[in-house]
Amino acid sequence: MDITEVILHQHHEQRRMFALLDEMPRDDTEALGAVWARLAVLLEVHAEAEEKFFYPRLLKLGKGNPEGDVDDEVEDAIKDHNEIRDAVRAADGPQVGSEEWWTAVWEARKANDDHMAEEEREDLLDFRHHADLQTRHDIAVQFLTYEAKHYAGIPAQDKDPEEYIAENR
Ligand SMILES: [Fe+2]
Ligand SMILES: [Fe+2]
Repeated sequence: MDITEVILHQHHEQRRMFALLDEMPRDDTEALGAVWARLAVLLEVHAEAEEKFFYPRLLKLGKGNPEGDVDDEVEDAIKDHNEIRDAVRAADGPQVGSEEWWTAVWEARKANDDHMAEEEREDLLDFRHHADLQTRHDIAVQFLTYEAKHYAGIPAQDKDPEEYIAENR
């Protein structure tokens, strides 16, 4: 097992679930609501598991890639996670299938797409270069255990990026 592979794979699942929404019948609000609820859980538990198990180790082992430093990388990631959480929360109010709901889902998709691209290009690369395979395996075990325990979701909580870095240094 390798945490960089686990994260990459889960990103693919997230992209795929957004793509599923494209193909759901627009008037089937039960289907739309169910798929979206599942995706919202996956997004939140994935981000929280990264913050618990991946980013603290990246802060210690990473060197920053391709330029800049690792603190900037992690600060960006926590900010992005907050943005995704806010966008997911915005889809909670409007009626499923409404114009407003689709707009909120679209915002969450864009925020998540932008974040995943950066995380893959910078954070995962940094970790592949600077963390050994045993460490990558150990984190994957912790990460997947946490996700399995919280399969039904967790309350979304924004984090202050600077506090997060200070606490996890
Ligand atoms: Fe991720
Ligand atoms: Fe992330």
